[in-house]
Amino acid sequence: MKLFLKIWRQNNNKSKGKIVKYQINDISPDMSFLEMLDVLNEKLIYEGNDPVSFDHDCREGICGSCSLFINGRPHGPERGITTCQLHMRKFKDGDTITIEPFRANSFPIIKDLVVDRSAFDRIQQSGGYISINTSGNTQDANTIPIKKEDADSAFDAATCIGCGACVATCKNASAMLFVSAKVSQFSNLPQGQVEANQRVLNMVNKMDEEGFGNCTNTGACEVECPKGISIKNIAKMNREFLKAKL
Ligand code: SF4
Ligand code: FES
Repeated sequence: MKLFLKIWRQNNNKSKGKIVKYQINDISPDMSFLEMLDVLNEKLIYEGNDPVSFDHDCREGICGSCSLFINGRPHGPERGITTCQLHMRKFKDGDTITIEPFRANSFPIIKDLVVDRSAFDRIQQSGGYISINTSGNTQDANTIPIKKEDADSAFDAATCIGCGACVATCKNASAMLFVSAKVSQFSNLPQGQVEANQRVLNMVNKMDEEGFGNCTNTGACEVECPKGISIKNIAKMNREFLKAKL
């Protein structure tokens, strides 16, 4: 395949960025999107040019680091997958593909397509955990009976990989889908009840402090989330927040 790429290039978050055009040939339809970028970078390095910086790690849809806006959509045109799971067969020979970073004030650009998503880590650290006394008398989690529906909804929420697509696609750059998934994964389980009130208050406060916007129920986050996290989690988090406040 021959492709025309329009890629956002920016040295750091102080410098001005711009779209730079590249042409790339001999791309196999079986390559992943990131492998296509690897081919481009090999070419750029061979020609003595600066390769395009982009984030990646697992390349199998579980780490959440491959955050790219492809033709105006986070993780590209397919629903329910991450950028690393997107294959070039989804594009046509001769296509023009625009590739940009995930844009949000709370995700400052580090270089080119790499953004700093450590705000998510700080929200997680503010309450996304349970404290367990491991003194030797710890109860086996499997001995606590949990209703199947509760276990399923906790597990569904726990599949959030912290990629940030929900923020990047939201017109308000809201992190509510991410934070609500992290709150729900605990609030649906008995183990999460001990710190439930403090958790939701701390995580919501931290989310506001990090500068993420509010939710106006547009629903784009749910559509673009590669893990299908439901916006029902946002309603649940709002209920948990009110309960904790009262
Ligand atoms: S809720 Fe979905 S889109 Fe948002 S960070 Fe989690 S996995 Fe990514
Ligand atoms: S590289 Fe890990 S989810 Fe894409």
